Amino acid sequence: MVTLGTGFKPIQYLGNKSRLSEEIAARVTRLDGGRRSVVCDLFAGSGVVSRRLGRDQSVLAVDIQEYSRVLTAAQCSPHRFARSQQEEFLFEARKFADSIMNTELQSLIALERDALARGDANLITEIVENGSVAAWAIIGGHKRAVQSDFELLLTRAAKGLEGNRSATISRYYGGVYFGYEQAAVIDALAAVAYGLEPEARDTALAAVMSTASELVASVGGHFAQPIRITTRNGQRKQGALTAVAKKRRPSAMHVFAKWLKAWSDLQPTRNPVAALRADFRDVVADLPRSVGVVYADPPYTRDHYSRFYHVLETIARGDDPGISTATSRGAKAPSRGLYRTERHQSPFSVVSEAPGALSGIAEALAMRDVSLLLSYSPVPNTEKPRDRVMTLETVLAILEANFRHVQAHVAESVGHARFNVARLNTPMTLGAEVLISCTNS
Ligand SMILES: C[S@@+](CC[C@H](N)C(=O)[O-])C[C@H]1O[C@@H](n2cnc3c(N)ncnc32)[C@H](O)[C@@H]1O
Repeated sequence: MVTLGTGFKPIQYLGNKSRLSEEIAARVTRLDGGRRSVVCDLFAGSGVVSRRLGRDQSVLAVDIQEYSRVLTAAQCSPHRFARSQQEEFLFEARKFADSIMNTELQSLIALERDALARGDANLITEIVENGSVAAWAIIGGHKRAVQSDFELLLTRAAKGLEGNRSATISRYYGGVYFGYEQAAVIDALAAVAYGLEPEARDTALAAVMSTASELVASVGGHFAQPIRITTRNGQRKQGALTAVAKKRRPSAMHVFAKWLKAWSDLQPTRNPVAALRADFRDVVADLPRSVGVVYADPPYTRDHYSRFYHVLETIARGDDPGISTATSRGAKAPSRGLYRTERHQSPFSVVSEAPGALSGIAEALAMRDVSLLLSYSPVPNTEKPRDRVMTLETVLAILEANFRHVQAHVAESVGHARFNVARLNTPMTLGAEVLISCTNS
């Protein structure tokens, strides 16, 4: 059985605070001052912090993304699928997968399987770089004269599967982020999950997301960009080809079976955790009176989180997401990452808006005498340092304008060093996680 505090990792999640969750919980408890009020995790992300906080007190977990709501709800109130229910789920999903694969997808699945078996580098590259059926339809590929067998199969699939809501993951992301067969199985698993009661649905969908996160062939294990096999100067990267072949080998059904069991074996949190999909501005404007402390871990880079996890958002919502366009060499084309047309843009990721967004939170909380624990995170090493949106000085100035007591701590540093504004630019603080406690009492 997976118990609390054993570091359950639901998905590959950039910037998750799993490592710091004990320290965050200790600082929240101190700010709470023994009142045992509700703590609000205002940017819950992967949900790992909410799960840890739920051990000590009730939690209101908030995030703008539906995938986060699902992951958090499932981690804190997991539905226990009995062994027989797990088998029944898999049985239904296999039937559903057969019906999805028994369409125009079948030829694409066979073509890909054959290309991988023969090690056909040209075809594998084509599949990964141009294999999205939905993108092919958007550029009108299915209305042009086809140039290859592969294009013919894409065209047939684009026509045959048009608007097919049972095959969304296959149509959009098959070939690119997942193998076609893996994508069809993900579609089937999600379809069976959508048919369940809410609590069971969240747990099953969370297991589908864990599966997608494990199977994805991409840069960094998230969904910002598929693997690029060909470099800009046309060279093929053997390492990338090998990585794709390795990722496409596992059966999605087996991977899911492992995850459904892991999620089913999770212990619920001791205290209730309510997970909400909402904008932080709406929540702080109307904060329940029971909330005594807010833990906030907003984004700090210009890259919007929604860019990294858009495929999980599509799985969680079960909608038909469309593909946003990007301009490449003067022409509009579907974005290479196949992003959803509606993608949330956080004010925390916009240089001109981030200070105002933080001020809004600080003002609203200070006015209600609610304490704040703010994470200030270094830029993940996948990003460029210049992409950080607010300096620590700016953050502290905003907090000090609203709270009487503001104390910054370098998280997990030896002796948990405190520091003041004059020492901010030491190399220690530049790459470190900082936790800032703010209170008026
Ligand atoms: C740094 S991550 C949080 C990571 C989280 N603490 C964890 O341990 O996984 C920031 C989160 O803020 C969320 N977010 C961005 N804009 C938001 C908004 N306007 N309202 C609510 N949440 C938002 C993102 O979806 C993302 O999940």
